[in-house]
Amino acid sequence: MELLATTNRGLETVAIAEIKRLTGAEATVHHPGMVRFSAGVSAVYRLNARARSLHRVLIELTRGAVGDLTEIYQATRESDVGWVLPSDQPFAVRAQRRGDQSFGSPEVASTVGQAIVDSYAEPPPVELDEPAVVVRALVRGETLVLAVDTTGQSLHRRWYRAVEHDAALRPTVAHAMVCLAKGGDDSNLAGRLLDPMCGCGTIPIEAALATNDIAPSTEYEPALTSLRPFAATRYQTHVHDQSQQRAVTPEQIVGRDREREWVQGARENAAAAGVTGAVSFAVGDATVQPVTADLIVVDLPFGVRTDSRPDQLYEPFFDALGDDWDRLVVLTTREELVPYDPTETLELRRGRLNASVLVVT
Ligand SMILES: C[S@@+](CC[C@H](N)C(=O)[O-])C[C@H]1O[C@@H](n2cnc3c(N)ncnc32)[C@H](O)[C@@H]1O
Repeated sequence: MELLATTNRGLETVAIAEIKRLTGAEATVHHPGMVRFSAGVSAVYRLNARARSLHRVLIELTRGAVGDLTEIYQATRESDVGWVLPSDQPFAVRAQRRGDQSFGSPEVASTVGQAIVDSYAEPPPVELDEPAVVVRALVRGETLVLAVDTTGQSLHRRWYRAVEHDAALRPTVAHAMVCLAKGGDDSNLAGRLLDPMCGCGTIPIEAALATNDIAPSTEYEPALTSLRPFAATRYQTHVHDQSQQRAVTPEQIVGRDREREWVQGARENAAAAGVTGAVSFAVGDATVQPVTADLIVVDLPFGVRTDSRPDQLYEPFFDALGDDWDRLVVLTTREELVPYDPTETLELRRGRLNASVLVVT
């Protein structure tokens, strides 16, 4: 079947590599923030249970050219929703429209919803606020894509955020940065990894979770358990599979921050994530402390929600960094202040700002 997966805009290449690693499928970019690939039912279980860079996994129901709402209705009626959406599960349609069509997203949603209801002798109930199943209707130009969401709550919401930093990094972005530091592989940690400005520890914790092969969302039941082709027990098998687990010592993954409060928060988050023994945190000023690590992964302050001004911080930080490391992965909103030529750059958003992940080797 055809599957779609969403990710943070800018992380498409990382998502494609992860899909390949976890399922063997070759994905391609559908549009920024979404990739597409062919795979079977077991890939849906596996990605929902194990993917660290994806937000949602969707089963494509139909795809075709449409010019107006009547054609959207027809295309929905001709698609086979019944094999995946059972008639006893409350559902909603969420629509997204890009282009200069004469209709809006709410009309797309209600047209598709009506067509789905009309497809059943005993239709599933419509539930707009807390649906068990969400059907996504994407209209981009003249193309309609209908897809069923197998995930529900986005996979970027990890369970370990006991303490939330003022400028917390999205775990999917943190994970992608760790992958880039490891040359694209998210499992094997070749060398010591340091985040010298770790805040509440998102980067070191994601590094420890991936290395320990702990599933990103252990306490959550995805939407797929409400869909016809899937069973909760098979999903749980994938969640508890730790066949790729590797031993890691707390000296291997280190987080530091100038602020004691955040270091304490990082320790609490690591405990909530179950990786206390795989990561260590300390108070330290990155503009003076020497770096003893092979992989430096850092989400630099951007001066909006923190009191650190990039123009005053970057120079002493990069001076103190020296050159005794193998790979540096930096997330920054001030690329022009980074004194290296990156070998790879990913463009994304950090809050409301444009940001870049720079890989330096
Ligand atoms: C963008 S935040 C990091 C957020 C973190 N990635 C998270 O998800 O929680 C940047 C952090 O850099 C820290 N920081 C600023 N200047 C520093 C310095 N000179 N040395 C160490 N940490 C510093 C701040 O205290 C802040 O926690």
